[in-house]
Amino acid sequence: MARKFFIGGNWKCNGTLEEVKKIVSMLNEAEVPSENFVEVVVSPPFVFLPLVESLLRPDFQVAAQNCWVRKGGAFTGEISAEMLVNLGIPCVILGHSERRSLLNESNEFVGDKVAYALSVGLKVIACIGETLQQRESGSTMAVVAAQTKAIADKVSNWTHVVLAYEPVWAIGTGKVATPGQAQEVHLELRKWLHDSVGAEVAATTRIIYGGSVNGANCRELSAQPDIDGFLVGGASLKPEFADIIRSLTVMKSQL
Ligand code: PGA
Repeated sequence: MARKFFIGGNWKCNGTLEEVKKIVSMLNEAEVPSENFVEVVVSPPFVFLPLVESLLRPDFQVAAQNCWVRKGGAFTGEISAEMLVNLGIPCVILGHSERRSLLNESNEFVGDKVAYALSVGLKVIACIGETLQQRESGSTMAVVAAQTKAIADKVSNWTHVVLAYEPVWAIGTGKVATPGQAQEVHLELRKWLHDSVGAEVAATTRIIYGGSVNGANCRELSAQPDIDGFLVGGASLKPEFADIIRSLTVMKSQL
């Protein structure tokens, strides 16, 4: 089964009401391939989720940027996975490196979150990735394997998981991984899934790349055999996000 190209737009903690409406209008007017070819998910901050969900074109979906690790209750400031389901939000980003580093989310905590979100019926974009120091010390694969294992330990059905490989040194820095660097890790991750989880999961799970993806570098990256899409931060707030959504199609038509 072919893996459908997946493009996520992570708006992070950005936007006013006016700006959010403008971004949605821009997305609604963009000419992009049909959802049969590309799955598009945008992730506004929590407070804008219902608005974006109501205004956004029906072929795009919305995702939250986080959710609580278990059922809701006395957890001040948190948003539960059940609330997202209740509002018709189909998807959530979990384990983003900004949360891992700034909010001390451990591999195990992220694994628990992924398992819980899946258990209530959400789709999950699970993020992993090494720091510059880890890359330079040669431990990239050990780091991303440990992060993925913490998820695999808790999850038995991978159908609704998209794995986002986002090297921390490439996030928001303008320093994108080369197509070769990204492909190398994606291939290794697929091998890891094959050996540790199973052949079917390895063949069907989308592994997307994130870290300074933009309209100019997306085509070459999308041509790599094990890159199944992107998680885009900064450029997802700009018109070039439409170019990124079109990257695979453009590439194929050029072949
Ligand atoms: P960036 O962010 O595209 O701005 O580097 C990517 C991400 O954090 O998902």
